[in-house]
Amino acid sequence: MSFDLVLFGGTGDLTWRKLMPALFQAFRHGKLPEGGRILAVARDERSDDAYRAFIRERFEDVDESKRPNAEEFARFAELLHYRRMDLSQPADYAGLRGWLDARQADTVVLFLATSPHLFPVICAQLGAAGLNDERTRVVLEKPLGHDLASAQQINRVVASVFSEAQALRIDHYLGKPAVQNLSALRFGNALFEPLWRRESIANIQITLAEAIGVGTRGDFYDRTGALRDMVQNHALQLLTMIAMEPPPTSDADALRDEKLKVLKSLKPFTPESVGRDVVRGQYRAGTVEGKPVPGYLDEAKVQADSRCETFVALRTEVQNWRWAGVPFYLRTGKRLAGREAHIVVNFREVPHPIFPGANRANKLVIKLQPEDGLELHLMAAKGSGPGELLAPVSLDLDFDKAFPSDRVGGYERLLLDAIAGRLNLFVRSDEQEQAWRWVEPVLDAWARDPSGPRPYTAGSWGPAAASALIARDGCAWAEEQ
Ligand code: BG6
Repeated sequence: MSFDLVLFGGTGDLTWRKLMPALFQAFRHGKLPEGGRILAVARDERSDDAYRAFIRERFEDVDESKRPNAEEFARFAELLHYRRMDLSQPADYAGLRGWLDARQADTVVLFLATSPHLFPVICAQLGAAGLNDERTRVVLEKPLGHDLASAQQINRVVASVFSEAQALRIDHYLGKPAVQNLSALRFGNALFEPLWRRESIANIQITLAEAIGVGTRGDFYDRTGALRDMVQNHALQLLTMIAMEPPPTSDADALRDEKLKVLKSLKPFTPESVGRDVVRGQYRAGTVEGKPVPGYLDEAKVQADSRCETFVALRTEVQNWRWAGVPFYLRTGKRLAGREAHIVVNFREVPHPIFPGANRANKLVIKLQPEDGLELHLMAAKGSGPGELLAPVSLDLDFDKAFPSDRVGGYERLLLDAIAGRLNLFVRSDEQEQAWRWVEPVLDAWARDPSGPRPYTAGSWGPAAASALIARDGCAWAEEQ
C-alpha cells in the first residue's frame, strides 16, 4: 500500500520532536509500509536536501537509542520531501494537489501539526482544492479548541470538508502501550471483569504527574492551564478506558460509543461542587530531582500575575449501575515530585478479616510512565508457624521484559494507524465535545472565583488541599498509602 504523509508545520516542534522520531522508529523496525513519501510543509523556502539536513541535525536531541546512524538516516531521508506553502493561499494548495496527484498513492494522510487556530483555514482550503477524496484522511493534534463553543466551531468546519471517518483526532495517551494493555487486561481476560464494579472496587485514582515545568511553552500554557492541557483529554480518555462497558466488537465505533457513554455519565459539576471537589494549584520555586527550579510566575512568557493552574486534582463519579458511588480521583500537574503516570484501582477490604494484624486491601496499579507495567498487590502469609502475620506482596509485570522486541511508542502507533485507516485510537468529535461540556463548569467557576490557584512547592505532590480532598473519603493518594 503506497501512502503520502503530509506534515503541515513541517519545521515545528511537534514534527521534529515527536513525529520524525516516531516515523524513523517505524521505518527502522520495518513497520512503515513500502512506497511511502513524507512531505513536510512550512512557510520558508528550502530544498529537500536542506530539509533532510535540518531533520538530521534535530535528531541529535533525540534519545540515543532512537537516533539513526548515518546509513540508516540516508535510507530514511529518501522518504523525506519538502514544500513551501503559504497556508492562506489557494494556489499553494493547488500546487500540493498537483504534487500528490502526480503519483496517486493509495492513501493520503494530512497531519496538521500546526497551531490549532489554523485548522479551520487549512481544512477549508483543503476542501476548496479537492484534497478530501475518499483516500484522504486528516489528522488533528490537540488542543482542539479552548472550550465547547470553539471545539464545536472547529468540528463544524472539519465536518464540512471531511467525513467523521476521515477526521482523526489525536490524543497521544491513547497510543501509549499501557493504554493498549488496559483494553487487553479488561477485555482479553475473564479474570478482572467480574470484579470491575462497585461491589469490589472502593475507588480509582488516575495520576499524570510531570517533573518538567512549562519550559519554552509559557505563552501557550498560560492561555491553557492543566485542566485544558491534560484533564479534558488525556485524563478523561484514561477514565473512559477504565470505566467503559465491554464493547460488542473491537470496531472503532463500538469502542467509541462506549467511551462516550462514560463521558455522558460523569457527575456534572455545579458551582458548589467545583469549590468542594476540584483543587487547582500553581507551582512556586522549589527543587525537582535535585535541582533548584523557578516558580511558575518566573517562567519565560508567563504573565507576572497569572492565575493559570499548573495542577488539578478532582473527585468525580460515573453515574451508572456499575460505578454508582465509587469515587474517581484525577490528578495532574507540572513540577511535581517525579514523572509518573499511573492508574490505581483500589479494591475493597475483605468483608470479614480472620487474620491478626494489618489487612490491606488489594490494589491493581497500571503504570504508564516512566515504564509501563502492571502491579497486583496482594496479601500473603509471611513466614510459617502459628499466628503468622500477613504482609503485602506484589505481582509485577514489566511489559518491556515480557515483549522485548515488540514495543511501539505512542506516536509511532498512531501514525501507523492513521496510514492504515485504523480509527480505534482516535477521538471522535462527540467524545471530544462531551469532554468539553463536562469541564466547562469548572472553567466558569474558576473564572468567577477571586481566590485563584493554591501555591505548591515545585518537587512536591501539589497543594495540601489535594490530599485533603481524598482524605475526606477516608482514602489517600498512592504515594501516601
Ligand atoms: C501534552 C501536553 O499533551 O502532553 C504537555 O500538552 C504534556 O503539557 C504532555 O507535557 C505529556 O505527555 P507525556 O507523553 O510526556 O506524558
